[in-house]
Amino acid sequence: MDPQPEIEQYLEEAERARMRITHIVETHVQADHLSGCRELAAKTGAPICLHEEARPAFPTQALKDGDVLDLGNVTARILHTPGHSPDSICVLVTDKTRSPDPWFVLTGDTLFVGDAGRPDLHGAQAAGRLAGQLYDSLFGRLLALDDLVEVYPSHFAGSACGRHMSGKPHSTIGFERRFNAALQRRDRDAFVGFMLENLPPQPPEFVLNRQRNLGLL
Ligand SMILES: [Fe+2]
Repeated sequence: MDPQPEIEQYLEEAERARMRITHIVETHVQADHLSGCRELAAKTGAPICLHEEARPAFPTQALKDGDVLDLGNVTARILHTPGHSPDSICVLVTDKTRSPDPWFVLTGDTLFVGDAGRPDLHGAQAAGRLAGQLYDSLFGRLLALDDLVEVYPSHFAGSACGRHMSGKPHSTIGFERRFNAALQRRDRDAFVGFMLENLPPQPPEFVLNRQRNLGLL
């Protein structure tokens, strides 16, 4: 998921685990780094899976809310969680040998440990609307999950896709429900205001990165 251009690490890891890479999932069209999804697809033959709103210039398996990727003992259910970007998804993973209940959720740039994904990267005009969508995605979808579900975001501290991210790479829904700064703003307007304040400037390469990752450059 969200592969970097240095794809050898994924090929080596798959070989070490004696597994095959069958799907390449992007949680959204990335702005803060160049994606390695097309290199990895060329090497493995696996489809690139992106939400249908992304509309890149190369073939993908278009995902929509509720889709389930059947991975044998494991299922990966797609949650469309717009806010950081219109095409953002989270992936809810269940290991059926362990329990029919979900084990963990890959939250992309929707929910970080300590913060949520910034909603302003698609322009000032869209920022308020996206912040409202982020509220619905977080409070309506992710916080509807059980407190025991583990949370694995795509970034921790250091990425410009958020503000107050923890250095801790993973968490749980219950921990974030209690301590995540964005999730303490339960009123919609207070949340939207919080998500639009104190945002660092958008790094200049973000727009170009997104264009390249859409296959437009
Ligand atoms: Fe991002």
